[in-house]
Amino acid sequence: MVHFNNAGCGLLTTSTLRAVQDHVALEAEIGGYEAAARREGAVANFYEATAMLLGCAAQNIAFASSATHAYSVALSAIRFAAGDVVLTTRNDFISNQLAFLSLHRRFGVEVVHAPDLPEGGVDVDALAELIRRRRPRLVAVTHIPTNSGLVQPVAEIGRICREYDILYIVDACQSAGQLPLSVEHIGCDFLTATPRKFLRGPRGSGFLYVSDRILAGDYEPLFIDMYGARWTGATQYQPLPTAARFEDWEFSYSTVLGCAAAIRYALEVGVEAGGRRAIDLAADLRTGLDRLPGVRVLERGQVLGALVTFAIDGWQAEPFKAELDRRRINSALSFREFAQYDFGDKDVDWCLRLSPHYYNTEDEVAQILATIEELVA
Ligand SMILES: Cc1ncc(COP(=O)(O)O)c(C=O)c1O
Repeated sequence: MVHFNNAGCGLLTTSTLRAVQDHVALEAEIGGYEAAARREGAVANFYEATAMLLGCAAQNIAFASSATHAYSVALSAIRFAAGDVVLTTRNDFISNQLAFLSLHRRFGVEVVHAPDLPEGGVDVDALAELIRRRRPRLVAVTHIPTNSGLVQPVAEIGRICREYDILYIVDACQSAGQLPLSVEHIGCDFLTATPRKFLRGPRGSGFLYVSDRILAGDYEPLFIDMYGARWTGATQYQPLPTAARFEDWEFSYSTVLGCAAAIRYALEVGVEAGGRRAIDLAADLRTGLDRLPGVRVLERGQVLGALVTFAIDGWQAEPFKAELDRRRINSALSFREFAQYDFGDKDVDWCLRLSPHYYNTEDEVAQILATIEELVA
């Protein structure tokens, strides 16, 4: 098998698989609550490891069942009112765009998209001008979108948000494990991601970073639960002082322990070194695809990551992917519906996405290029 769908889900490390399996076995043996209590120290290690990954304190980290869940609890903590502006980009993730549209429908929030540069990627000067002129309630930027390998300048944008004291949320779902991340350097209030992609964690996982500024302020999830708050009197409750305020009572402890193992592993490998190799393999793939007639590489932007997207002449989406599946090459499809702005700009209805990780090889890149050449011919 050739796994080039790491932007969908990376392959679990052995230590991750073992951590998940061991905990489920312990739950079966002694009971779910008892197993969680026995592994309390190991559970705490998830927060420590994630904090190390992001350069913050463990108390700034919340576990979530997906990156989207983490994102929506963060959004729900902002008291939007009619006329508030959410400023985002043309490449922000589909579910985030849907959340903004939902905020528009329900609260009359205005969603503004900063323009792109001619060469691709958000125009930071234009975004800064929109910040000055519109004073958005929130700036939302996806570091690497799902629909292309574009890397957005999240730290540059963060500096502007800090200058104007604007709330800033970063979706680092694709960049976590692919690029070194420092929430201090990025200057964000919230950052969301999942361990299941470039961190090689289990499915059904996500995490949320919450800044001290937010924790000290009047921010709490709209539907805070019995884990996030103490019910201090019949008509009163007190949110927790830490990012646990954003967590649910119930979560999959085996998944949390698997995530802890995956993130520790990524830290040992080194995100910089591992990510660099993945990005280099992606660059080789793009160079090879560029040479193939009938193939159009779709990446635009000054800085590119480990996601490679391309359109193919003469094929429909599903049959093309099915041919790759038949050859045991794992890939993913992206459709216009996932990226209305970006795919509109590129004038494509679908594309194939290949996303290598550090464990992929140059031989696999060559094998994929030969396969695509054969299929297009
Ligand atoms: C950029 C980006 N953001 C968010 C998500 C959503 O992550 P999850 O499926 O964990 O909710 C994805 C998933 O592909 C993504 O690529």
